Amino acid sequence: MLRTGVRLLALALCVSAGGDFDWTKNEKTSFYYGTFPTGFSWGVGSSAYQTEGAWNTDGKGMSIWDVFAHKKGKISSNETGDSSCEGYYKFKDDINLMKEMKLNHYRFSVSWPRILPSGLRSEHVNEKGIRYYSDLIDLLLNSKITPVVTLYHWDLPQVLQEKYGGWQNASMVGYFNEFANLCFERFGNRVKHWITFNNPWSISVEGYETGEHAPGLRMRGSGAYKAAHHIIKAHAKVWHTYDMKWRSKQKGLIGISLSADWGEPVDVSNQRDVEAAERYIHFYLGWFATPLFHGDYPAVMKEYIGRKSGQQGLGASRLPVFSPQEKSYIRGTVDFLGLGHYTTRYVTQKNYPSSFGDSYFADRDLAELVDPKWPDPGSEWLYSVPWGFRRLLNFVKTQYGNPMIYVTENGVSEKMPCTDLCDDWRMQYFREYINELLKAVRDGVNVKGYTAWSLLDGFEWDEGFSERFGLYFVDFRNKNKPRFPKASVQFYKRIISSNGFPSQREVESWKRKAVETCSSSNQLLAADPLIGHMEMVTEIVVPTICTLCILLSAVFFMFLLRRRL
Ligand code: NOJ
Repeated sequence: MLRTGVRLLALALCVSAGGDFDWTKNEKTSFYYGTFPTGFSWGVGSSAYQTEGAWNTDGKGMSIWDVFAHKKGKISSNETGDSSCEGYYKFKDDINLMKEMKLNHYRFSVSWPRILPSGLRSEHVNEKGIRYYSDLIDLLLNSKITPVVTLYHWDLPQVLQEKYGGWQNASMVGYFNEFANLCFERFGNRVKHWITFNNPWSISVEGYETGEHAPGLRMRGSGAYKAAHHIIKAHAKVWHTYDMKWRSKQKGLIGISLSADWGEPVDVSNQRDVEAAERYIHFYLGWFATPLFHGDYPAVMKEYIGRKSGQQGLGASRLPVFSPQEKSYIRGTVDFLGLGHYTTRYVTQKNYPSSFGDSYFADRDLAELVDPKWPDPGSEWLYSVPWGFRRLLNFVKTQYGNPMIYVTENGVSEKMPCTDLCDDWRMQYFREYINELLKAVRDGVNVKGYTAWSLLDGFEWDEGFSERFGLYFVDFRNKNKPRFPKASVQFYKRIISSNGFPSQREVESWKRKAVETCSSSNQLLAADPLIGHMEMVTEIVVPTICTLCILLSAVFFMFLLRRRL
């Protein structure tokens, strides 16, 4: 995915920041030792089209991504997700990988056309597709891994695109609700965490504005707004259906997963930059979050798009309008907010003249910039800027009344095939981003879980298999699609088992306890607290105590035997 409008800017970075949350204090670099609250949930994520393969197997219908990827010139190297990781066949192996990591949850998505090949429940339910997800859910639960299920991770049934124009058409609201209902009916006795849509920003902008993603439409300045409008209504309808029909029996939660970069003003003392950065976030996250939490689009979107539509001689705003009934229907329809976050931009004011034409990007009147010093290990758009994560989380807390949050995506890719599996930059990225998340939790942001993106290397949309986000390397040239752990698997596993980054004090108390049980282990502690205490417990204390016990029992038995003889 290429993000539009990014220019490099060599900045002497002196922008202040920082922590309840003091926005002016510079805390961008300090590492915070500590652990997450008890019960914090650690997981990994995936999506159907990116990993399942089996694109035309067992009665599955075509999705817009099947069709889009088969068109020449749409995907890097003309790759497709036809077989991808063969996750459809290998889910048992994959759950074993998750068990080994001691994960608490697994986020995956249901392919709508796999269970409803034509998109419509009234036409045909594909029981083989249902069985696949049902078995997956059962095995996860048997493995003590909570399923977190996304209903829509971009693979709309092709029939609905062809017949109705996909998300341009209001009829999708009802069809999506029927599909969701079927999922609640068949899986809702076991699934308690539902995500209606994954990253509607991307569905709308990349699917209907720039056309980089399926269905590949370029309806500049209007298509994205219309798609988003229907998606917001579809989400709300599903939430209400669940609330009326299923909630009392199934006791689950309905959320949505929104993605957003953080936008930092280039110059915090310049009011125009500060406002431009706010606009950036409102056009990104606020576009969806504000209607769902507060009942309407952000005022700044209404103002800018309305004004520009007027200047372009249009009779009405290109941004659709919610009626008063719709406003009260969509307000408050989020049980938890899923948040996907990867990177940050500097933002400055930039006027786009009306002659520029209709465009979501021009509507914002801003320019995005990056600091060339920011590490950029993988995808072109993905710079590692951990402090932006904490700021985004605090923004959500203050803007939307501190909702319950699950981080539903966070991670980093590599461009080159990482054949030696030493993904030290990924470990660094996770260490720093998860640490900023910990700081945000300490700021009082109500985050309940974290999902690393992703379990496996997969089909990275228009980039094909050229960008790898996986904790596990997948050899796509081998038809068995074997998985190999990158170094970050062990690293993430350690964060999970220590529930964060235990502080020096915690480590000291662990040390003291260890010294009481086994004095020799003391000298062997590593310097880094996280590594130190994990290695001490898993690799030193436990084996040492076991060995000592075995030795002592052997000596004791020999002593007893001797006395008897
Ligand atoms: C967001 C999307 O939800 C996911 O499918 C994709 O792999 C990641 N971003 C990385 O680009």
